[in-house]
Amino acid sequence: MKIREGIAVILLAIAVMSCSDHEQHGINLEPSALAKATHPGARVYQSACMSCHALATKEEGVAPPLFGVKDHVLKAYPERAAFIQRIVAWVQAPNPQDVLMPGAVKKFGLMPAQTQLSEADLQAVAEFIYDTDLTKPDWYAAHYQAEHGKKP
Ligand code: HEC
Repeated sequence: MKIREGIAVILLAIAVMSCSDHEQHGINLEPSALAKATHPGARVYQSACMSCHALATKEEGVAPPLFGVKDHVLKAYPERAAFIQRIVAWVQAPNPQDVLMPGAVKKFGLMPAQTQLSEADLQAVAEFIYDTDLTKPDWYAAHYQAEHGKKP
């Protein structure tokens, strides 16, 4: 009995360790890997955000790519809980008085609220964006410098 308990504790410890390890490094996401991503938020992103926010494309779309969105939100809200709260609040009701990407608003117009999403979906997609290491495309540094006059 004691031995079995010991083994259970060890297994649990391994599970917890590998989990936090995974969170620290994030999920390195290439566009081709998105289909295989198991995070529940990945599905929400695909169904509710991706039609406007591509992962990382330079093509002129209808909205900035997701990694650019993340980069801007992360600069203002580096802490995970605050980042998630900001994304959830924004997607429910984009506030023109509190915009982190004014250049994008000028170019594309204000994002329409995505009111069809449940609280759980919003939370999941915000976690997915924070926890996923979106691959930064080569062109981003030059684009950011042109837009903001400084390196990203
Ligand atoms: C119909 C198109 C559309 C959809 C769908 C959409 N967005 Fe956006 N989003 C935009 C546009 C356009 C902008 C840039 C202008 C702005 O900031 O309002 C933007 C900007 C943002 C920003 C930056 C806000 C800021 O402070 O400037 C965040 C964060 C964001 N989107 C998250 C999301 C998430 C998460 C989803 C999916 C749940 C989503 N968007 C779905 C069009 C869209």
